[in-house]
Formats: sequence, structure tokens, C-alpha cells
Amino acid sequence: MSSISSPDSISSLYVARKTVDVYKQHEQNRVESKRTPWSAYDSPLDEYNESFLGVLPDGGVAGLILQLRKAKGTGINALEIAGQGNVLLHLKRRGIKKIETVSLNDFRGTLRRVSERIRGLRYIDGDITNGTTWARISKQSKDLIMSRPMAALSVLRDPNLGFVLLNRMYTLLAPNGTLLIQLPEELIGITGTAWIEKLATTEGIEVKYRGNETRRAIYSDRYQPILLIKRKDNSPKDLSFLREVNFNPQSRVSILN
Ligand SMILES: C[S@@+](CC[C@H](N)C(=O)[O-])C[C@H]1O[C@@H](n2cnc3c(N)ncnc32)[C@H](O)[C@@H]1O
Repeated sequence: MSSISSPDSISSLYVARKTVDVYKQHEQNRVESKRTPWSAYDSPLDEYNESFLGVLPDGGVAGLILQLRKAKGTGINALEIAGQGNVLLHLKRRGIKKIETVSLNDFRGTLRRVSERIRGLRYIDGDITNGTTWARISKQSKDLIMSRPMAALSVLRDPNLGFVLLNRMYTLLAPNGTLLIQLPEELIGITGTAWIEKLATTEGIEVKYRGNETRRAIYSDRYQPILLIKRKDNSPKDLSFLREVNFNPQSRVSILN
């Protein structure tokens, strides 16, 4: 049994960056040959609702945004990781004040760029393993961070790097902020879910997790494991306490709702 190691694994970062280079080129090649960058790209709201089914309130992503807006009393700040920001833009009137999104490339045409900028979307083309990408994200804390990478966020597969990145997202959350993310099956395969149980029993954090076990018969990247983390009063300032957790694939326990 091993434990989640310190967050500074240079070799994890090196391997991850190589894969990111390949993915970035893959997107570009597909676009040059007149295909969409990925088979799932710029996906609509109902696809997001389907992937996050089981951890969302009534009304799906829209319901979550309404809840967050109501709790805050004013428009929320939202960030998407590994997406086009289109779903957040579509739901802007439900109560979003500010929208940012991060994705490897920006393939939008000029008209769409201008129109989306006017409607309030900031699109950041960058790799989230790179500190300069995080520096381009606004400093304001986020009420919602959402990520539906459909298995393409390969950098989360390695626990060394995956936990560093999850921690970055967590520390960007505002009080009462929510992180809603699809996790790679490979990460859970290596770590098991002991760390998720630890999160769920930590004061100041509310967790909902759903593995894809029940839906394996119709396995698809759409049904990668999903995790919702909500920061409440007295939440820990970061997730460094997870380093103490032993992970063991044999000890998987599903934490449903
Ligand atoms: C399969 S697409 C899914 C897009 C969108 N979320 C959806 O559901 O349609 C994967 C997305 O992850 C982004 N991505 C992959 N690795 C990334 C990384 N290291 N940093 C930032 N974005 C990344 C890709 O650029 C792409 O936008």
C-alpha cells in the first residue's frame, strides 16, 4: 500500500507534458482535416447533465447555478477547465456574472470570438499543467469550477500531478464554492476511493461521488467517475491533508449521494 506522494514529482510533470503536446497536436490535425477537435467538443448542456447525473440537484447544471446564485445573493464567478465555456454562456442568465474557460487550443472563428467576448466569456488557451495558464485566470475566487474533459484531461491520471491540480482547483473556490469534475477512470483505478472517503468525512467539505460501476455496461467517456466538492464554512484551506491517505484499489467503496 502506498500513499499519495508529495506534489512535486518532476517525472510526472514531464510525462504529462509530453502527452499534452500530443493532444494539442491531435486537436490541430483534426481541425486541419476539417473534423471537430474531439468527437465530443463544445458539447451542449444535455450532455453535461447526462455526465453529471447523480451528483447534481434538480435542474442539473442550471439547478446548481441557481442554487449557488441564490446562496451568494448576486451573480457567481464560474470557471470551466478543459471546455469551450459554451454551456456556462448558455446558462449565464441563470445567475453567472463572470465566465472563464481553459482549453488547449482556441479554434473559434473571429465572429464567434467577438460575439462570445461581448456576451462575457473569457477563453484562455493553455495547458493546466503550466503555471502561466493559471496566472492568466483571474484572481477572483470561483463559485463554480466545472470540468467535463471526457477522459482527455490525461494530466489527472497520475496521482502525483492529479492531486496537485485538484488542489489548485479547490484553493480557487470561494466560500460555498463548488467543484464539479469528471475524473479519469485510471486515477480511481490507481488510488481507489479512500481519499474521497477522507474528503467526505472532513469538516467543512461536502462531497458527492459517483463511480461508473453501475453504468459500465454502456461504458463511454461520458460516464467517467464524477466528483462534486462543495466548500462550506470552516473548510480546510487546501487539500494537502490527502497526502496522508493510503490508497489501495482493493478498498474501493462507492460514496453515492
Ligand atoms: C474531449 S474535449 C471535451 C470538451 C468539452 N468539455 C465537452 O464536453 O465537449 C477535451 C478538452 O480538454 C482540453 N484539454 C485536454 N488537456 C488539457 C490540458 N492539459 N489543459 C487544458 N485543457 C486540456 C482539450 O483542449 C479539450 O477542450
